[in-house]
Order: sequence, then structure tokens, then C-alpha cells
Amino acid sequence: MGNIPQDHYEPKPGTATWLEDRLPIGGLISHLQNFPTPKNLNYAYVFGGILVLFLVIQIVTGIVLSMHYQVGDEASFRSVEHIMRDVNGGWLLRYAHANGASFFFIAVYAHIFRGLYYGSYKAPRELLWIIGVLIYVVMMATAFMGYVLPWGQMSFWGAKVITSLFGAIPLVGDSLTTWLWGGPAVGEATLNRMFSLHYLLPFVIAGLTVLHIWALHHVGNTNPTGVEIRKDSIENVKKDTVPFTPYIAIKDLYAIVVFLIIFVAFTFFAPNYLGHPDNYIEANPLVTPAHIVPEWYFLPFYAILRAITDDLWIMMIMPFDAKLGGVLAMFGAIAVLAFIPWLDTSRVRSTTYRPIYRWWYWILVADFFILMWVGAKPAEGIYPIIALIGTVYWFAHFLVVLPVVGLIEKPLALPETVEDAFNKKHGINDQVSTTGKQDDAAALQPAE
Ligand code: HEM
Repeated sequence: MGNIPQDHYEPKPGTATWLEDRLPIGGLISHLQNFPTPKNLNYAYVFGGILVLFLVIQIVTGIVLSMHYQVGDEASFRSVEHIMRDVNGGWLLRYAHANGASFFFIAVYAHIFRGLYYGSYKAPRELLWIIGVLIYVVMMATAFMGYVLPWGQMSFWGAKVITSLFGAIPLVGDSLTTWLWGGPAVGEATLNRMFSLHYLLPFVIAGLTVLHIWALHHVGNTNPTGVEIRKDSIENVKKDTVPFTPYIAIKDLYAIVVFLIIFVAFTFFAPNYLGHPDNYIEANPLVTPAHIVPEWYFLPFYAILRAITDDLWIMMIMPFDAKLGGVLAMFGAIAVLAFIPWLDTSRVRSTTYRPIYRWWYWILVADFFILMWVGAKPAEGIYPIIALIGTVYWFAHFLVVLPVVGLIEKPLALPETVEDAFNKKHGINDQVSTTGKQDDAAALQPAE
């Protein structure tokens, strides 16, 4: 499997050989265990593993929750209260699932911004990145539908605001929203289909994750230098990498434990901190909440949606109104991510060696947080202006900064090989490292 040369898997005589002749699963497990991973990976590379764990947590807690949850105009809100009060451990299941969604998004944002910093999307990892963008879109759809299920005020009004957006699409908009709702308004039929899809989509994410990791194992990880590991011989692969188990596995495990401690602290001590109190009020189509705000992880894109208003000159020359403009901007802000592999013109991969782009990268990070902050504010006063500036920068970053800076910037000198970078950082002299015994603890000792 993959284009990285590795030692061949030899099943032990007996059952392993019998199995391997019929289903080569031993080879697959051995490949996953021993996968050569760059020896200089830092902690920015732990989030993929954390994401796998959170996908499992969400699926397991979700399946058990759905054993007690009921769909229905009145039943949904009541069944969630029943889970919280009557089901053994039900409160823990629900809080773990709700906070699990938040922590899943914390991890995915860290994972995406790591990818942006280290140019993980550049050739030959374009497809790996695009599958990631697809996963992110499906995650957003899943989280949105999940939030509707408790049928509180924010569930109802959030569903109404977001599904109504499709009404802005010319010609088919009205029929599309009626089709989405399953009737003339958001109601029980809408809730039913949201439940059905909320149960289905995590498995789509799981399927996409298999493709994602398959693609990863075909091309291999990047590393903080952006220099590819040498694949010309097993000897050189061994000099640049360590086997995934135990080296990277133990590092991932440590990060998972730290991340889980924070997750558990929220789940037990501040379970509603990331939620909205209005969702403890039963859905009422006759009472609109003062501010309809989505969950925190949607806020940057919600800010982009609302940043487009009819007062903008650009909207005055457009053949459509601000509502459609906002919808296009919001979906465009996510879609642009899929094109990054071709928008980035830099010769080097890692931002560490990009003295100019580095600054722009951190402006993008700040922009993301500013959009998140302004997305929670009412659309009045200075806030729409801040949202507009943030939106303009978001697009300018990918469509202008990324292509232009890549062309004009002179990158810093790269290390020759991953082995060189590793040795330099850890003060290891060449003689020890070129023996190719990276498994040997002695080789990792700093030089005298
Ligand atoms: C359920 C969600 C996801 C899971 C379970 C997942 C899993 C993983 C794992 C295990 C790795 C290898 C370890 C690491 O580099 O952290 C990885 C790498 C990667 N992921 Fe994801 N991922 C997810 C979502 C995403 C998203 C949303 C994107 C981008 C939009 C993305 C882009 C990438 C890229 C480009 C790499 C290669 C990194 C490199 O070697 O530089 N992933 N992913």
C-alpha cells in the first residue's frame, strides 16, 4: 500500500498465513502500525487522531441517546428532559454529546489551521485536503441538524433562519424550502427529516474519514519543514522517519489525554457554557427570540452571511438581493478552501520558511476570531462594518494574498532533509544518525 517503500509484511506460519491468503488484513494492520512517519512531527499534528476519537465519541453517545429520544412537535423537547432527568446517566450522555460536538469543532479548526500553516494541501495532497473540506461541510450539516433535535427556541428559529436562506435561490427557492421543510413551514415533518439525516451523516463522515486516511497513507504526512521525506530507498525512509507505533502513537495518546481532560472539565463543570439558555425554552413559532445566534462554531460564517446588505454598492449593481448575496458569500467562504492547493503559488510548503506570508497567516487567524466574535453580535451599529471588513479579508486572503505573496516572496533556506532538520534541532551529530538506527534510543541522545 502507498508509494513509500516499507519493509514487507510476512505473516507468521499458521493462522496468520491462512488469514492473509484469504483477507490481507494482517498486512493492513501492520501497515497502519508501522507506517513511516516523519520523525520531526510536532504537536500541531495530533489533531487528526483527536478527530478520529471524537467521531467515535459522537457516534457512540448519539446512538445511545437516540434509544431514548423521540421525534415530535411536543415529544422532542419532553424526551430530552426525560433523558436529562430519568434516564440513568442520561445527563452525562447528553452533555458529552453536546460538548463533544464543540470539541470536535475545536479540533477540526486546529487541524485546518495547521494544514494552512504547513501547506499540507500542496501537491501531492490536494485530494487529501479536498476530502477534508468535504468532511468539514458534512460536519457542519450534521451539527446543524443535531441542534434542531431538542426543539428549543434556538433549535426552531435557527432551523427557520438557515432553511429559509434557500428561498433566496432564484426560480426554485420557494419550492426548495417547501421540499426541505416537508410542508408549508418548519414543523414536525422538518424535525423528522433532520433526525433521520442527523443519524445518517456521521456514517458518511466515517466513510470519508477512511478515504482521508487512505489518501494520507498513500502520500505520507508532511512535517514542519515542508521538506518531503526521502523515498528513494528504505534506508533513507528510515533516516527521515520513525514507525508510527510506538513513537507517534504515544505522542498522539498524550495529546488525546490532555484534550480529554479539558473536554471532561467542560462536560462536568460547565456543560451549558458553550450552549444558549434559550434552548431550554420549548420551541414556539409565535415568539421570536431577541437574538437568533447559532452555535459558536458557525459564527464566522454566520457573520459572513450577514455582512452582505442591500446598502453595499456592489449589491446595487448585482441582479439579485442581499439575501442571496449573503448566502453566496457564506457558501463561497467555505468553497474557496477547496481551491487553496491551486491558489497557493509558493515554492515552499511550510510557513516557517515564508517571512512575508507568515504575517498574513496570523492576520487570517485573527480575522477568523474577529468574525466569530462579531457573528454573535446584533447586526447593528459598528458590527456590520466589522463583519464586512472581516469578510473582505477572508476572500482577499485566499484569492489575492496567497497567489501574490507566493510569487514575490523569497523563502528562507530549507534544510536538505528531514533527518538534517531533526539532527540540528536535537544536537545529534551526523555520524550517529547516518547509521540508520533511528529506532535505537542511543541515536536520539544529544551529541556531547
Ligand atoms: C472527521 C474529521 C477528520 C478526521 C478524523 C481527520 C483525520 C486525519 C488524520 C488522522 C490525519 C493524520 C494526522 C494529522 O496530520 O493530524 C489527517 C491529516 C490531514 N488532514 Fe484530516 N481529518 C479530518 C478533517 C479534516 C479537514 C476538515 C481537513 C481540511 C479541510 C483535513 C485535512 C487534512 C490534511 C491536509 C492532512 C495531511 C496533513 C499533513 O500531513 O500535513 N482533515 N487527518
